[in-house]
Amino acid sequence: MDEKKSLLQRKPWLTWVLFFLTALVVFLLGLFGASVMERRGESYQLLQPVKPIAEWEPRNEVWGENYPREFETYRATIDTTFASLHGGSATIDMLERYPNLVILWAGYAFSRDYSQSRGHYHAVEDIRNTLRTGVPQPGTCWTCKSTDVPRLMNQMGVANFYKATWEELGPEIQNNIGCQDCHDPKTMNLRITRPALIEAYERRGVKIQDATHQEMRSQVCAQCHVEYYFKGKAEKYLTFPWDKGVTAEEIENYYDAIEHVDWTHSLSRTPMLKAQHPDWELFQLGIHYQRGLSCADCHMPYRAEGGVKFTNHKITSPLSNIAGSCQVCHRESEQALTQNVYDRQEKVRQLAGMAEDLLAKAHIEARMALDHGATTQQMAAVQKLIRQAQWRWDFVGASHGGSFHTPLECARILGNAIEKSSAARVELAIILSKQGVQQPVPMPDISTKAKAQAYIGLDMGKIREEKKSFLMKILPQWLARRAD
Ligand code: HEC
Ligand code: HEC
Ligand code: HEC
Ligand code: HEC
Repeated sequence: MDEKKSLLQRKPWLTWVLFFLTALVVFLLGLFGASVMERRGESYQLLQPVKPIAEWEPRNEVWGENYPREFETYRATIDTTFASLHGGSATIDMLERYPNLVILWAGYAFSRDYSQSRGHYHAVEDIRNTLRTGVPQPGTCWTCKSTDVPRLMNQMGVANFYKATWEELGPEIQNNIGCQDCHDPKTMNLRITRPALIEAYERRGVKIQDATHQEMRSQVCAQCHVEYYFKGKAEKYLTFPWDKGVTAEEIENYYDAIEHVDWTHSLSRTPMLKAQHPDWELFQLGIHYQRGLSCADCHMPYRAEGGVKFTNHKITSPLSNIAGSCQVCHRESEQALTQNVYDRQEKVRQLAGMAEDLLAKAHIEARMALDHGATTQQMAAVQKLIRQAQWRWDFVGASHGGSFHTPLECARILGNAIEKSSAARVELAIILSKQGVQQPVPMPDISTKAKAQAYIGLDMGKIREEKKSFLMKILPQWLARRAD
């Protein structure tokens, strides 16, 4: 019977040997695992540049030698293939899509040319080429386009940078938005390089140095994705109008108090405001900000590659990367999340369309009233309403992400725009009937961009020719400078 006993029964000490062997293997596996995790941590922490980067180094390629993953994903913003319903990196000609915009901006360069934005890698090329820079612009216009800006500001002084003309600075501006704009070259910490943001906070008693790490992941974007104006006729000093707050009404109060006018409307003669892109301002009124998210959470999600975790620098529409952005937090399908975005955008768009239609009619009717001798006094109330209505409409429209970032606030603002533009038309109806003008005032055919531009008297053929010869004169020098 003895032979029938198992090996372990015959040699009980073997059980202990097996036990210790297993324990050792588990221990070694644990050690190996821990070292892998540590490495991973290390490779994420390893931010010491292999080749030191000079202060104010504008060339993204030079930074890229140290940080190839960030550089490669950053460079991918050159891609213009992704299009969503209202956003994406493909160009959308907004005037073609919504011809009423030409009427709303009559007398202002935006009525010539306005396209939905592309990726950061195209910033310099796009501002050089737009027909809006066919009219003389200040140096300030370059501020949010290039890593050469911090370098030049440091070299020539901030005030002198703004005061220079767009043409004077042109040859110096060679590198697109990039590393220098958001990072300290020695530590790679996020840092603010645009004085306008620091100054705006200081006026409100806030120190940007006190911002938390998570806040900085939005503040770097707030350097450019905000409402702004150029202060002073000669100074053209870039200023963020946040002294009274960041809502559409608070910013309007700021502008009204200093009697700021961006341009006089060529049809209604209204002293107008032009909204820039209040992305950061509107974002703060939405649920994702209130739950602690930063811009980078959706537009620059983390990515893993060969055990290395890094930040995806391909800043674009998150709809092109729902798995990497939204699905980190939401468990719904890509289709459901895309639909959530589109639903909000479409509802806001419906209201925006109503406001555009009413505003276009108000400008055209105001023109009719003026042609029939309406007095400055008669028109004052109408023009005030038009100014207020269009500012509200533009505040929402100019923030391309706003209808998703903050749908409810956008709808509220547009509701006010609709109310004020309707009120302007009621006032106009009274003036026009006093003048004996037959109503409704006949509307011109403005169903396409070209027809609307012809109606407001733009000779687009001539404008394009002038721009072309301007670029032919100037670009060879600017591009030759790049080769130096
Ligand atoms: C628009 C602002 C912006 C620009 C431009 C930018 N970065 Fe970043 N970068 C960030 C943000 C935000 C993070 C995330 C920081 C964090 O959460 O700690 C980051 C993180 C990093 C990190 C830390 C490691 C990582 O991947 O998270 C490195 C290295 C880096 N960036 C390199 C670069 C390089 C190189 C360029 C230029 C090719 C560049 N960045 C351009 C905003 C920017
Ligand atoms: C130095 C100024 C600057 C900074 C900093 C900056 N942006 Fe931009 N951003 C721009 C400009 C200018 C454009 C339009 C470029 C064009 O159309 O040529 C743009 C375009 C975009 C687009 C549209 C891209 C596309 O594919 O359609 C998104 C999204 C965006 N930025 C998000 C961000 C986020 C998020 C941050 C912060 C992490 C940020 N930006 C930081 C200036 C800036
Ligand atoms: C919760 C995710 C989320 C956060 C956080 C977020 N965005 Fe967006 N953003 C989106 C989505 C979704 C869109 C719509 C994209 C589309 O229509 O294709 C968008 C659109 C945009 C656009 C227009 C891009 C385009 O392709 O037209 C810009 C610019 C933008 N966001 C900037 C910002 C800035 C600046 C911040 C921080 C102040 C921010 N976003 C925070 C999700 C986010
Ligand atoms: C870092 C986490 C995080 C990411 C990334 C994120 N969300 Fe959210 N989202 C939240 C939180 C938190 C809420 C608020 C819900 C709550 O508190 O119950 C929210 C709310 C929402 C809501 C409802 C808000 C409303 O307007 O009614 C939608 C829709 C939504 N997210 C879509 C998206 C989409 C689309 C993306 C990607 C572009 C995205 N989220 C990315 C965390 C996130």
